[in-house]
Amino acid sequence: MKLLVTGGAGYVGSVCAARLVEAGHEVVVLDDLSTGHADAVPDGVRLIEGDINDVIGEVLAEGFDGVLHFAAKSLVGESMQDPAKYWHGNVGTALTLLDAMLEHGTPRLVFSSTAACYGEPDEVPIPETAPTRPTNTYGATKLAIDHAITGYAAAHGLAAVSLRYFNVAGAYGRFGERHATETHLIPIVLQVASGTREKVAMYGDDYPTEDGTCVRDYIHVVDLADAHVKAIGAATAGEHRIYNLGNGFGFTVKQVVEACREVTGHEIPADVAPRRAGDPAVLVASSEKARTELGWKPERVDLAGIVRDAWEFTRSRSQGA
Ligand code: UFG
Repeated sequence: MKLLVTGGAGYVGSVCAARLVEAGHEVVVLDDLSTGHADAVPDGVRLIEGDINDVIGEVLAEGFDGVLHFAAKSLVGESMQDPAKYWHGNVGTALTLLDAMLEHGTPRLVFSSTAACYGEPDEVPIPETAPTRPTNTYGATKLAIDHAITGYAAAHGLAAVSLRYFNVAGAYGRFGERHATETHLIPIVLQVASGTREKVAMYGDDYPTEDGTCVRDYIHVVDLADAHVKAIGAATAGEHRIYNLGNGFGFTVKQVVEACREVTGHEIPADVAPRRAGDPAVLVASSEKARTELGWKPERVDLAGIVRDAWEFTRSRSQGA
């Protein structure tokens, strides 16, 4: 298929673009490079530098079999301080994309949704049928887009799949996480190991978990990308399917720090700090639906392996490779 990957110069988008190419698809990346990097676009993939709101009509007029929409603002804290940036930047842009897809007859959409749609869960692991009560603006905007997609699929026959990511981690060779503002646990811990940060602040050790720190479901970015490859193939006209993507088991913040110590051989000083606002104690996915309906199975579930791939990436960047 000929596929447009918006946000394909970002972390998850670049890995997905690479895996789509390997699966035999023709891929074009559209990215405004506001947070992405031109050199993260896989070899042989055309990069169109531009804002979806300005250029999407012209781009889709070329003719595409589908769009994978990653381009978004994704900082939870920032979304609370500057909601307009998220409502316009995420929801407004997604509506512009949906309208352009209709206008140009682009039949398929895979959308990057998030576990943040669920908020504080009543049950763990979290199924797709769990109530959606986002605790932050970021999650609220992704949920709003999911609702819009449901309506467009039903009314206009769009074939759509939303994938709700839990904690994405790891790297794929030269494609990895390099955010100007880093908030995610594993890259922050690895910055300490590589000497660019002094120590880790572990946000809260009084949660009702085995060691008091928060539990998260860490999924390897390559497994996540492979779910997108399956999703674009499985998308069915008139349906909007929603799948959670995680490994189905969790690790505490302390366990993650310990795994990073073992992989890097660095002592990684870590202090307990106050809780971070809006952090649920435990977020673990039930990915049964993706396994059953997409035939997807995460292959890289070992935490040390996930950290090792992220560490290789961090080291290659800090050596300027
Ligand atoms: N954490 C620390 N210290 C840090 C950074 C994080 O202790 O320096 C803790 C957090 O408090 C949390 C865990 O590590 O308990 C994981 O935090 P991340 O920021 O890596 O990830 P989140 O679970 O907060 O965020 C993920 C996705 C978001 C999504 C959210 C849903 O990355 O996009 O899940 O709640 F919105």
